[in-house]
Amino acid sequence: MPHTETRRLWRDISVFDGLRTLPEPMAVITEGVRVVALVAMNDFDEGEAQGCSDMGRGGVMTPGLVDCHTHLVFGGSRADEFEARLEGASYEEIARRGGGILSTVRATREASEEALLALARPRLEALIGDGVTTVEIKSGYGLTVADEMKMLRVARRLGEELPVRVVTTLLGAHALPPEFKDDSDGYIDLVCREMIPAAAAQGLADAVDVFCETIAFSVAQCERVFEAAEAHGLPIKAHAEQLSNLGGTAMAARHGALSADHIEYLDEAGIAAIRKAGSVAVILPGAFHTLRETQQPPIQALREAGVPMAVATDANPGSSPLFMPTLMLNLACTLFRLTPQEALAGMTAHGATALGLKGEGRIREGAAADLCIWDIDTPAALAYTVQPGRLRQRLFQGELTHDR
Ligand code: NIG
Ligand code: FE
Repeated sequence: MPHTETRRLWRDISVFDGLRTLPEPMAVITEGVRVVALVAMNDFDEGEAQGCSDMGRGGVMTPGLVDCHTHLVFGGSRADEFEARLEGASYEEIARRGGGILSTVRATREASEEALLALARPRLEALIGDGVTTVEIKSGYGLTVADEMKMLRVARRLGEELPVRVVTTLLGAHALPPEFKDDSDGYIDLVCREMIPAAAAQGLADAVDVFCETIAFSVAQCERVFEAAEAHGLPIKAHAEQLSNLGGTAMAARHGALSADHIEYLDEAGIAAIRKAGSVAVILPGAFHTLRETQQPPIQALREAGVPMAVATDANPGSSPLFMPTLMLNLACTLFRLTPQEALAGMTAHGATALGLKGEGRIREGAAADLCIWDIDTPAALAYTVQPGRLRQRLFQGELTHDR
């Protein structure tokens, strides 16, 4: 018997295509894993509806959301630090006294692979329930070869067990583990000579990231990590210019980084460098909000330079314990004055580009049927109001994974 793929039809729907909102109500047809028709309602030939299952009318369709920066595999909690910061302690002070990332490292090392998987699953389910179909997950709370590989295996397993595409990133150079106190170059040797080769050999990492900051690693140390990544054919990216301006972004751009993330302190030279490299600027309003930062990322200069801006949750236990992508759309607008369209593009098309998936995170004929249908009137409403439960339908690789 010939196999016929399911055809699904939405009518009269407002479509945000990953870059812009289309000017008129549309009809959209998917077949199997692809979008096969995207036509203005006025031009829609009802004959096309034949054999399609009717998915309804109205609402808004967006590409499945792409959350290109998360740290959602971790053990423990940092609620105590949340309270300490409210009483005046800074993120850097907490890190310098062995809390912060290192507190999560202790809890993550103690946790078994199964335990980490069980902890991460509901966090990822929260993202999925808010429309995510592609998510990046970083290691960085293990800081030994074995514990970093454990984290990456958990990330891979999440992608096998849940209806979402997981892209993994090795973040061995996230913080200096206590065993290497006073020998940060020695730790970077371990990252370059053992961690990156192990992750590459086991196929566990899709990219390599670093934390370039005074409380983490220097520009020169991060550059060594990038050279090791390049030797193993792995793309690179950086946490840079979050708390100070060290020039990590410009160095990362020289190495062809996929993205530079945070970038509150990015200067003109850094903007020119990422523009030239074609890297994506990843804006993380959840961390800015949680740490009560005041230094604004240079949004207007990035916009004028034509640098694509992605928006992500940075979901993690310290600087952004916020597991709601659509809240980030709102914060990107209210805190950084992105337009709702820019914020949406940042969590669809530009988020995909930041993961090396240029051309994805779009709705057009031939695109993947990774789609969200929302109970709202206009795409901008996704950023305007913060309201769980607006997801009407979600398609992942053509499968209807959510319908109500
Ligand atoms: O993206 N900046 C460094 N890393 C994370 C925070 C991780 C943590 O505090 O646990 C970030 O903000
Ligand atoms: Fe981060």
